[in-house]
Amino acid sequence: MSKHHITTTINGEATEFLAEPQQTLLDVLRDNLNLTGSKEGCSSGDCGACSVILDGALVCSCLTLAVEAEGRTVTTIEGIATGEKLHPLQQKFLEHAALQCGFCTPGFLVAAKALLDRDPNPSETDIRYWLAGNLCRCTGYDKIVRAVQDAAAEMRGARR
Ligand code: FES
Ligand code: FES
Repeated sequence: MSKHHITTTINGEATEFLAEPQQTLLDVLRDNLNLTGSKEGCSSGDCGACSVILDGALVCSCLTLAVEAEGRTVTTIEGIATGEKLHPLQQKFLEHAALQCGFCTPGFLVAAKALLDRDPNPSETDIRYWLAGNLCRCTGYDKIVRAVQDAAAEMRGARR
């Protein structure tokens, strides 16, 4: 099958790749571009481990065709930090021990970033609702929610 030539922006960098028509964005990120932070948990849109931000919208990259990235902007977990400086969400996940195995963590972080990008002061209910599409199999969700709340507060403080 002929491949499509895709021109896109990933984590702020102009990126080109070749993709089969049926190839998912997750597969291209992991297998073609070596961006392996996005995880494959279910391949069916149920776990959120593959979450990325596509033109500002949170999507499951396992349900997104790679060709849909044409001309668009993708943010993956690899694009969250600023150089060596962790994103406040990453720092707060560490401080709150909001992870155990970490397999789900990239998806939680990307999803939480998408939330804080649109709402810098979400309620606990908002956070729980927003993260309902991200499954963690081994830790309690409370620490994750506390980490997001703490990161949001710190980011609001930094904006003042
Ligand atoms: S791997 Fe995409 S939602 Fe689970
Ligand atoms: S930390 Fe293990 S699945 Fe989330």
